[in-house]
Amino acid sequence: MEKISQSVVKKDHEPKMSGRSVYVGDYPGDGVLTGKLLRSTLARARVLDVELPVLPEGYFYVDKSDVPGDNNVNIVLDDTPVFARDTVEYIGEPIGMVAGPDVAVVNRILSEIKVSYEELEPVLDLRKADTVFFNYEYEKGDLKKALAEADKVYEEEFTTGYQDQTYLEPQGMMAEPEKNGHMYVHGSMQCAYYVHGAVMRVLGCRPDEVHIFQDVTGGGFGGKEDFPSILGCQVAVAAKKANAPVRCVFGRREDLEFTPKRHPSLCTYKVAVKDGKVTAMDIDVKFNGGAYTTLSAVVLQRGIICANGVYRIENLHVHGQALKTNTTPSGAYRGFGAPQTFFAVEMMMDHIARDLGVDSLKFKEAHLARQGDATSTSGKYHFPVPLPEMIEEVDRAADFRRKHLEYQKPQTGRYHKGIGMSLWFHGAGFTGSGERDFIKAVCKLHKFPDGTVEILASNGEIGQGLRTTFPKIVAHELNLPLDKVYYNHPDTARVPDSGPTVASRSLMIVGELLRRAAIKLRSQWKDGEDQVVEEHFKEPDFMIPFYLDKFQGDAYPTYAWGVGAIEVEIDTCTGTSKILGAYGSFDVGTPIDYNIVIGQMEGGFLQGIGYASIEQMNYDGRGRIRNNSFSDYLIPTTKDVPNLKCMLHVEKYPDGPYGAKGAGELPLVGAPGAYVEAVEQALGHGAKLNHAPFTAEDTLNEIRKEGK
Ligand code: MTE
Ligand code: MOS
Repeated sequence: MEKISQSVVKKDHEPKMSGRSVYVGDYPGDGVLTGKLLRSTLARARVLDVELPVLPEGYFYVDKSDVPGDNNVNIVLDDTPVFARDTVEYIGEPIGMVAGPDVAVVNRILSEIKVSYEELEPVLDLRKADTVFFNYEYEKGDLKKALAEADKVYEEEFTTGYQDQTYLEPQGMMAEPEKNGHMYVHGSMQCAYYVHGAVMRVLGCRPDEVHIFQDVTGGGFGGKEDFPSILGCQVAVAAKKANAPVRCVFGRREDLEFTPKRHPSLCTYKVAVKDGKVTAMDIDVKFNGGAYTTLSAVVLQRGIICANGVYRIENLHVHGQALKTNTTPSGAYRGFGAPQTFFAVEMMMDHIARDLGVDSLKFKEAHLARQGDATSTSGKYHFPVPLPEMIEEVDRAADFRRKHLEYQKPQTGRYHKGIGMSLWFHGAGFTGSGERDFIKAVCKLHKFPDGTVEILASNGEIGQGLRTTFPKIVAHELNLPLDKVYYNHPDTARVPDSGPTVASRSLMIVGELLRRAAIKLRSQWKDGEDQVVEEHFKEPDFMIPFYLDKFQGDAYPTYAWGVGAIEVEIDTCTGTSKILGAYGSFDVGTPIDYNIVIGQMEGGFLQGIGYASIEQMNYDGRGRIRNNSFSDYLIPTTKDVPNLKCMLHVEKYPDGPYGAKGAGELPLVGAPGAYVEAVEQALGHGAKLNHAPFTAEDTLNEIRKEGK
């Protein structure tokens, strides 16, 4: 193993394990007001009046009329209000906030506020949604011709549900007015500069008049990419009015009901087959964006770019829409639009293979993209595509091919087995030209006279290990012991904008900037002196420029690759399934820390298995999320998948630090296809499963259908 891959004790291990870490909810409460949101009880309505009780001294109510600047939160667009405008668009939409010293009094005030509404008809069903937030389309080749010349055209629909990030620490933000009139906002977040841009605009102030600090954060998984900007604006407005610190920390129910989760999807695939090979795909993708646009544009972009999976499809047409419904706005979750379309394309390929009477893995292998091939958007796979080797690795570990043949035979008795395999990639870093055109990452190294080095960047430790891996890179290049290099949580007043902690970009993009900064510092190193070096992002030369209006060019500089096999045993009496094994081979380039990367692979793969099997979340007839606790929304634990084997396959990426590529999201992305294929095989009566999660109830329903 390379030196950089050798594992160390995580820098934040001790404080986290001992409970000494200070999360936003842990700051002492003296003089701090507790903020609680007044939320809409209707999915769509005009707000006619808000009648307040008499507020005791020291208690405040804030709403849109208290916003000093714009009542719009800067996300990708700015349609999300800080506090509701004249209408409310989903159950739980914040209308105002009550803040005060005693939480019991705050709760009493909230219960006494009377909101009068004029109720409007909500749109809840994705199939009935008619407000199109985003509409994208691209094509290549000659779809019409391929469809006309096909031996057979297959058409199928796939759906996926919500998935909540279920980080350990719910959302929480705090705002503190400073003596000089500036506003200090801190809390649980992934993207300090996103919060900075949003709060600045809402307070109507200069960049230097607010600063944002990321507190210790108990996981994000995408859920703290946009949402802290919204909550950060709300507490900042309240703190401004009260001229006192205001903190709002959600409970689990509030978090599950009213914060972003993965977009539910509806994908339709029309696939042409000629001479046993797929010649064309016509794909329609619909994502349920919820009430506001938040991150839907970028989630949808990634989703449609990988809608043809890892396959070379000469004739391709992809249409994607993010639609508005009167439900909690959907957002980012590890994988960012890709798990939905990868599920659909993997099931589609499996179903076609079965219909053709050929082995599903062989069929998939016959269509694999190779190095040098064009991508869906007429970019290029510039680097090796190691899927064939990875398939062999997983086959060896899982005994896949033998089991797949064996379980194909008719099974008797109560327990039936099945195994499925899924192939996927994850485009490393931001989609398209975002890195070059919008983010323009900058980072710095500050060397102190005593020879210690501080990393100055804006990326957040959210459990993925940056506080350890960033210093490892810098220490390695400077030949320093690891305890001489450190990375504190970012404060926008102290660090440059190295971009957000999203799209598995931090380690690959900012890690490489830090490596180059360290080389620069090494060449200028003067003992005993205070020195600062700075490094700026440069796009790699080999990139084919990406045009978003045409969806053409390299959407990503490189790709992380995944192969996963999942083996299940279903109980035909109860419908429950036991996971006998989950085997994954993952290529994320050089692991910057073996244990961290294996932890990322295991955790992500497990989240993907949960998405496929038990994580079911839905809203009721009024549009309110029903699954609002861990007894109604189950997530898997290590006990559900005791035999989880993750292997690393290393294809180095020359523009990532020591060959590292984006890692964090990859392992989740393809798990659902493998799981549902396995259940499908275990059911064994020709059923074509087309939705995830596929729960015990679904399995039982299939068994009953078969019995008829
Ligand atoms: N791992 C842990 N433990 N906690 C997290 O919140 N977030 C995931 C992934 N792994 C997450 C995680 C998501 S959504 C992303 S985008 C990547 O980490 C971020 O990786 P990066 O720091 O390399 O950008
Ligand atoms: Mo990750 S979903 O890009 O925060």
